[in-house]
Amino acid sequence: MARPPLIASPAAVEPSAPAAPLPLEGAFDQFTIGFDRRDRERVLEIWDGILRGQQWSEGEWVGRFEEAWSAWNGLPAVAFGSWAGGAMAALEFAGVRGETVLCPSNTFMATPFAVLQAGGRVEFVDCNREDLCMSFADFERKVAEHRPRAAVLVHIGGHIAFDSERIAELCRAEGIFLIEDCAHAHGASWGERKPGQFGDAGVYSFYATKTISTGEGGALVSGDPDLVEFGRAFRNYGKPDYSVEGLNFRMNEFTAALAAVQTERLDEIVAWKNAVAREQLDPRYERRLQLPDGMTSGLYKYVVFEPIERSTGKVYDQPCHRLMGSSVDLPNTDWVAENHWCVPLYYRPAGPAGGD
Ligand SMILES: Cc1ncc(COP(=O)(O)O)c(C=O)c1O
Repeated sequence: MARPPLIASPAAVEPSAPAAPLPLEGAFDQFTIGFDRRDRERVLEIWDGILRGQQWSEGEWVGRFEEAWSAWNGLPAVAFGSWAGGAMAALEFAGVRGETVLCPSNTFMATPFAVLQAGGRVEFVDCNREDLCMSFADFERKVAEHRPRAAVLVHIGGHIAFDSERIAELCRAEGIFLIEDCAHAHGASWGERKPGQFGDAGVYSFYATKTISTGEGGALVSGDPDLVEFGRAFRNYGKPDYSVEGLNFRMNEFTAALAAVQTERLDEIVAWKNAVAREQLDPRYERRLQLPDGMTSGLYKYVVFEPIERSTGKVYDQPCHRLMGSSVDLPNTDWVAENHWCVPLYYRPAGPAGGD
């Protein structure tokens, strides 16, 4: 069912044009930011209004973007200048200083580094070969071994980690604060559930390669009103009462406007990528990552378990535990690093949506 647009267009700005059909050329070419060219004029007009309005930060667009993201994600959202800001807020809130935090090794170094910056100790957990994400079996072992204060579950590649619910259940039972790293997971769903809805918090990145990109940007989502309030203070030097020792992790108005317009396109971008994947890629790649019934991937990456000619490479070719010189044994993580590849798939429909 189509959702009405959340972003009330300023009077002078036309609403976004309707969906284009599915001409597929361009989807396998070189990297392309998933920006729909039909939104160009709209973004420029909003930016012009911001330029003239004299409020380039802490204005209305951050709130509009947060509403739009929240409507998609089903949780209150707090905009940040990057994933890192949102992650630091969640880790501080969880109280990880001096405590152990479980984290997968098959992820970007941002994940363990954020834990270290927040004063936590990282213990790495192995992944599954099927989904590239944290394994419940190893997670359960590491919980018993390390008694962690918190854990970070990373949804690698654009789908939701297959063991999310089991991991979340164990965290609830053991009082472990669970943060979902949703940096790849824009547009994903599992039945009615969206990334960030399994644990205590989810954190997105809108870095330049992501499915929804603002160049730089991030968002924290959580159903916990105390964390949402903490996040708002944390990104803004603890304002208004300075009881939270935050720094500047604010998103500016130009970025927020771009993010708000992009968010309206999220469902369309993901539907387009999925249609291309089903029609064009699935018949070619039998040894592809297979999703459980009811899950939709945002297809940040199209992952296969066979070497291919035109690959964008690996999601990660060096696991974090190797980069950090850890001797922990994570056989599936090492296997995944050796045995997966990504097929190029970029949102670039032909015609006005994709043309320059
Ligand atoms: C899994 C993962 N976590 C965290 C980040 C960090 O995001 P940001 O650069 O917005 O801080 C990224 C960015 O690439 C990522 O892929």
